[in-house]
Amino acid sequence: MQATDLMDTTTSENEEEGREQLPERVPTHVAIIMDGNGRWAKQRGLPRLAGHRAGTENLREILRACVEFGIRILTIYAFSTENWGRPEAEVKGLMNILKDVIDRELAELHAEGVQLRHIGDLSRIDPELQRKVLDAIELTKNNNRLILNVAFNYGGRAEIVHAIREIVRNGHKPEEIDEALVSHYMYTGDLPDPDLIVRTSGELRLSNFLIWQGAYAEYYFAPVYWPDFNKEELRKAIIHYSQRERRFGLVK
Ligand code: FPP
Repeated sequence: MQATDLMDTTTSENEEEGREQLPERVPTHVAIIMDGNGRWAKQRGLPRLAGHRAGTENLREILRACVEFGIRILTIYAFSTENWGRPEAEVKGLMNILKDVIDRELAELHAEGVQLRHIGDLSRIDPELQRKVLDAIELTKNNNRLILNVAFNYGGRAEIVHAIREIVRNGHKPEEIDEALVSHYMYTGDLPDPDLIVRTSGELRLSNFLIWQGAYAEYYFAPVYWPDFNKEELRKAIIHYSQRERRFGLVK
């Protein structure tokens, strides 16, 4: 037997093992509140932005794991409408991170079949960055391995207000307005609601994230800061999800 044969055998055994560890029921749409970057940095005596940068690194591992686990849509909360109230340097830093992620990662994301989308209000963002985001969306619009929805300048209440304005602007009559129509006017109008919403860092809050779409989601609160949330942590979240019984308000 040659060394290369041995390597091949080892690889396929590992893959087999990885598959065995996969949960049976995998959520189609996972949404994540990536919390705890600041505390992660503080623990290490680093500036808060170092925590946000570290929180970009593990994102790559999480995207790979999503594809491996069979998750089709990942929505991440990268910048909330409330985050404008943070110190100017941190806000600027988060804008730069978005720019750098697009500059550095877009080609690979595209090659890997990731469809990039944005939810939220882009109009308050620097026009050059807006352009970058819109170009990235255009470039990747036909990819279908994983939809990555980036919530940036996003707020759940602002999204509902936006939807109401659009409904009124389009002249819908009161009797036409039902839950399906409101869902259609949400930023995620053509996507299924999240099945699983994860928040890292141990905080038990929704913080204005997908408050319409999350009505029947399962929630999982991971006891680690976002930069430490890796493939194994995602696996744990999915195992918890797969063990829950979703009833959607019905009886068993
Ligand atoms: C919350 O942690 C995190 C954020 C407000 C920013 C999240 C951004 C990233 C992970 C970078 C990836 C971004 C893009 C655009 C892909 P926190 O600062 O509230 O942490 P703390 O509660 O410990 O202070």
